[in-house]
Amino acid sequence: AIYIWFRDSWRCMLIVGHRGAKGVEPENTLRALRRGMECADLVEVDVRLTKDGIPIVIHDATVDRTTDGTGPIKGYTIEEIKKLDAGRGETIPTLQEVLGLVRGKTGLVVEIKEPGTEAIIASVLMDQMPERLILVSFHPESVAMAKRLFPGVQAGLIYSQNIDDPVGLARSVQADLILPRWDRVSREVVDQAHSAGLLVVPWILNDEETIGKALQLGVDGFASDDPCAVRRYLQGR
Ligand code: G3P
Ligand code: CA
Repeated sequence: AIYIWFRDSWRCMLIVGHRGAKGVEPENTLRALRRGMECADLVEVDVRLTKDGIPIVIHDATVDRTTDGTGPIKGYTIEEIKKLDAGRGETIPTLQEVLGLVRGKTGLVVEIKEPGTEAIIASVLMDQMPERLILVSFHPESVAMAKRLFPGVQAGLIYSQNIDDPVGLARSVQADLILPRWDRVSREVVDQAHSAGLLVVPWILNDEETIGKALQLGVDGFASDDPCAVRRYLQGR
């Protein structure tokens, strides 16, 4: 972890590798995660279920953009999904494979992409709990369910739209942190979140100017496509 001096105290900054290290390797693959693990405190993955109910790591609802296949994930069994190329010869990883990779090494941020899948995701996590786990979602109901299933695990509400009271919404679902898109962060939101005991971890910050501005607002970390670039920048300050 990296500590920086902000206003009148030392703050621990969390570096999150977005989809592993999306800016340097094919997103959400084991290869991208290994790369992200070199510099991130936690690596982030997007989780969805196959046709036969296996939690896998992929961002979109279809395989079109990130693999050599086509069509919705819901049309693929795990056996079929494993035949696809996710870039540089990588396959789409299962959540179980990701847990095996990060365990004992790096923290994991699991984004629940599909409401209703929390319990199955939780049962896979229970088999190989990472040392540090944060469950996040754009869906408030998924954040609430994550906290119900794992009261002792941190959970976060992600948002990109202009919400009137993001801190109030996050508190109503027992969230421990908010993950605003970078352009939704303001001093006001950060101060409100901190007063309510919530951390603020914006996304996706890749360039020094944006990272520098977020630091001045008092955020607690960043999700980045290139976590090593963030680490270099913070260490060089
Ligand atoms: O951590 C927040 C970030 O992962 C949300 O955006 O679209 O990459 O899932 P997205
Ligand atoms: Ca994500």
